[in-house]
Amino acid sequence: MAVETPNRASEESASLSGVLTDPGWNGRAEYEVAADEALRRRPTLTVRNRLMLMLSLFFLLSLAVTIWSIHTLSTVRDSILFLEVADDYTSEIQQARRYEKNYLLYDTNLTDALQHASAAQRLARDNDGKIRKVMGTQAVAAMHQHLDEYHSLMVRIGDTKTPGTRADLEAQIRYHGNEAGEFAKRFVTTERAKVEARLSLAQRVLFASIGGVLLLTVLVANFFARRITSTLRRFAEHTNRIGHGDFTPIMPMRKYRDEFTLLAVAINRMVQELDRRHQILIESHKLRALGTLVAGVAHELNNPLNNMMLTAAILKEQYDELSDEDKLEMVDDLIGQTERSRKIVRNLLDFARESETKLEALDLAEIVDETAHLLGNQLKVKKVKLSVVVPQGVPPVHGDQQLLNEVLMNLIINALHVVAEGGEIKIVVDPEREDGFVALDVIDNGPGIPNHIIGRIFDPFFTTKPKGTGTGLGLSVARGIVQKLGGSLTVASSPGHGATFSILLPVTGIPSDISSRT
Ligand SMILES: Nc1ncnc2c1ncn2[C@@H]1O[C@H](COP(=O)(O)OP(=O)(O)OP(=O)(O)O)[C@@H](O)[C@H]1O
Ligand SMILES: [Mg+2]
Repeated sequence: MAVETPNRASEESASLSGVLTDPGWNGRAEYEVAADEALRRRPTLTVRNRLMLMLSLFFLLSLAVTIWSIHTLSTVRDSILFLEVADDYTSEIQQARRYEKNYLLYDTNLTDALQHASAAQRLARDNDGKIRKVMGTQAVAAMHQHLDEYHSLMVRIGDTKTPGTRADLEAQIRYHGNEAGEFAKRFVTTERAKVEARLSLAQRVLFASIGGVLLLTVLVANFFARRITSTLRRFAEHTNRIGHGDFTPIMPMRKYRDEFTLLAVAINRMVQELDRRHQILIESHKLRALGTLVAGVAHELNNPLNNMMLTAAILKEQYDELSDEDKLEMVDDLIGQTERSRKIVRNLLDFARESETKLEALDLAEIVDETAHLLGNQLKVKKVKLSVVVPQGVPPVHGDQQLLNEVLMNLIINALHVVAEGGEIKIVVDPEREDGFVALDVIDNGPGIPNHIIGRIFDPFFTTKPKGTGTGLGLSVARGIVQKLGGSLTVASSPGHGATFSILLPVTGIPSDISSRT
C-alpha cells in the first residue's frame, strides 16, 4: 500500500492555505513591501565590483612584488658592477705590490709598480660612483687616501737614496699598499655575501609570491564559485517552493545588494502577481463547489418545503375535524421542517461566507453530520452509500467549523467523483490512534491512487480530471487548513482498492463544559 507522507511541498502549500484563511492576510501585502524595501535598502556591492576589487588587489600585490624584485635586481646589478671593478682594482693593487716587492728587494720594476698603482687609482676614480654606492663615502675616501699615499710614497722612494728615510718610506709604502688592497678585499667579501643573500631572498620571495598568487586564485575562485552557486541554489529552492504554492517573498540573506538582488526583486514581483491570480483561482474553485452544492441543496430543500406544504394544507382543510393534539403535532412538524430548512440554508451560507478563522471546541460527529447532510442529494443521485462510524465519547477537537466543513466536503466530493455508482464511502472517527489527537478517515472503494501520482496529489493545481472540470486545489487547500489547525492530512492507497484520507486534529485544550457554555 502506497502511503503519501507529508513532504516539503505540501508543507509549503499549507502555508499557502494558511495565508488564504489567515485573518491577518492584509499583513501579507505589508510583508511583501517590507521584503522589497529590505532588498533595496542595503548598500550596493555587486559581484562585478567584488571581482574588480579582488583583481585590483591581485594587481597591487603583483606590482609590489615586481617593484621589489626590480629594486633587488638593480641593487644586485650595482653589486656585480662593484665586484667587477673591485676584482680589477684588487688585481692592479696585487700587481703593484708584487713589483713594489721586486723594487724593494732588487731595485727593479718601480715603473711597473707605479703603473699598476696608477691604474688602480684610475679605476677607483673612474668608478667612484659605483664603489661609493656599496662602500659608502667615508670608506671610499679612506681608500683613495691610502692609494694616493701609496703612489706618492713610491714616487718619493724612487728619488730617495738616504737609507734611514728609505726604510721609513718602505714601512709606510707597505702599510698604505696593504690598506689600499685590504680595503677592497673586505668589501668584496661582504658584498659577495650580500649578493648571495639578496639573490636567495629574491628567489624565495618569487616562489612565495607564485605560491601566494596560486593560493589566492584558488581561494578567490572558490569564494566566488561558492557564493554564486549557493545563491543559485537558494534561488532554485525559492522557485521550487513557489512552484509548490508557497508565495512568501524572498527576504535578503546578505548584507549587500548585488546582481542577485535584482533577480530577487523581480521574482518577488512575479510571486506577488502569481499570488493574486492564485487567490482568484481559489475563489473560483470555491464558487464552483458552491454551484454543485446549490443544485443539491435546492433538491434537499424541496423535501421539507413539500412536507410543510402538505402539512399546512391538511391543517387548513381539516382544521375543524382535527383534535387539538393533532393540530399541535402538525404545528410541531411544521416547526421541525422549517428548522431543517433553515439549517440547510445556514450551512450553505456558512460555506459561502468569507469569515475570519474562529477557533473553538468542535464536535466532529456534528461536523460530519452537517457535511453529509449538505451532500446528501449528490450521494443519492449516484446511489453512493455513506456510512459514518463515530464511537462514544470522542473529545472535542480544536478547529474552525466552517473550515473543517470545507475540508470534509473536499474529501467526500473527491471520493464521490471516483467511486462507481452504488459505491461506498465510509467516515470513521477514531480518538485512540494518536495521543492528543482525534483521527478521521474518509475511506472510499474507488480505483485508488496510482503510485506515480500519490506524492503529488496535495500539490496545488495537480489534477487528473479533464481540463475545465477540476482545479486541483481541493486537497492542497484541505491540507493547508488542517495543518493550520495544528493537525495533518495524509493519504494511503493501494491501486484497485480505494483510498483512505486521514485527518488528525488536535484535541481541544478548552474543557468541553466551558466551551459548550460559550
Ligand atoms: N479519493 C480519491 N481517489 C483517487 N484519487 C483521488 C482521490 N482524491 C483525490 N484524488 C486525486 O487527487 C487529485 C487532486 O485532487 P484535488 O481535490 O486537489 O483536485 P481535483 O479534485 O482534481 O480538483 P477540484 O478539487 O478542483 O475538483 C485528483 O485529480 C485525483 O487524481
Ligand atoms: Mg477535489
